[in-house]
Order: sequence, then C-alpha cells, then structure tokens
Amino acid sequence: MIIAYASLTGKVKHFADRLQKQLPECEFIKVKKTTEINEPFILVTYTFGHGEIPNEVKKFMLSSGRNIVAVAGSGEKNWGEHRYCKASIDIAKQYDVPLLHNFEKMGYDSDVDIVATKIKDLLQKGMI
Ligand SMILES: Cc1cc2nc3c(=O)[nH]c(=O)nc-3n(C[C@H](O)[C@H](O)[C@H](O)COP(=O)(O)O)c2cc1C
Repeated sequence: MIIAYASLTGKVKHFADRLQKQLPECEFIKVKKTTEINEPFILVTYTFGHGEIPNEVKKFMLSSGRNIVAVAGSGEKNWGEHRYCKASIDIAKQYDVPLLHNFEKMGYDSDVDIVATKIKDLLQKGMI
C-alpha cells in the first residue's frame, strides 16, 4: 500500500516517518503538484488557509483521486472547531472513503498507533 502525505512545514512528515516504522511494507510518497499515483493509496494531509485543502493536494487529487482508499488529517484546533482538519474531512466526504483519524500538528505517538492499527486492520480484512 502507498501512503501519500502532504507536508508544508514538516509536521506531517514527522508523523509519516513514525508511521513508516510501524508499516515497513508500505511505500511513503510526499505529495507535490505533479505527483500522480496509479494504484490504491492512503492520504495523510494537513489543512491550510481557512479550512482549505492544500493546493498541491487539490492538484494531486485531480490526477489520482480515483485511487484513494482512506484519509487521515493533521490540523490545529486553534483555527476554529469548524475548520479543524477540514481538508481530510472534506476529502473523506467527497471521495466516500474512511476518515481514519484526525490529529493535531505532528501527532502524539498514540495518534501514530491509531492510524497504523486502522491501516493494518483494513489491509488484513481486505477492505482496502
Ligand atoms: C496559514 C495556515 C493555515 C492553517 N489553517 C488551518 C485550518 O484551517 N484548520 C486546521 O485544522 N489547521 C490549520 N493549520 C494548521 C496546520 O494544518 C497544521 O499545523 C499541520 O500540522 C501542518 O502540517 P505540516 O507542518 O506538515 O505542513 C494552518 C496552518 C497554517 C500555517
């Protein structure tokens, strides 16, 4: 399984690096505007602007969104309750895929555990 992650200032990358230790069989790819993935992937994205999906993620989803199987999000509660992790919430709705988890900033180790466990579970059950 491919884990595609978007990270502007490094917090999601920090999360992804720890997730990779728990999911060594997964391939981790950082999302850029030109990224295209032609097989199933899980997305981990931050939220930008005022509850916006980051631009590179918008472009990436145009080319590759048909292959998304699940999403997780990073955000910060101080941007307001209705904007918190809005990007991952909107993508889950738009593409009708499970929202695995939302976490603040780089996440605690417990957040990494939650996402890793959910991914392993879905893979084991053949659901993704
Ligand atoms: C300009 C700006 C706008 C942001 N807007 C939101 C927002 O609307 N909702 C939210 O949950 N987090 C928001 N955030 C917080 C980021 O999503 C959060 O810090 C995330 O962990 C950043 O990930 P990164 O370091 O991998 O880029 C914003 C951050 C910045 C700098």
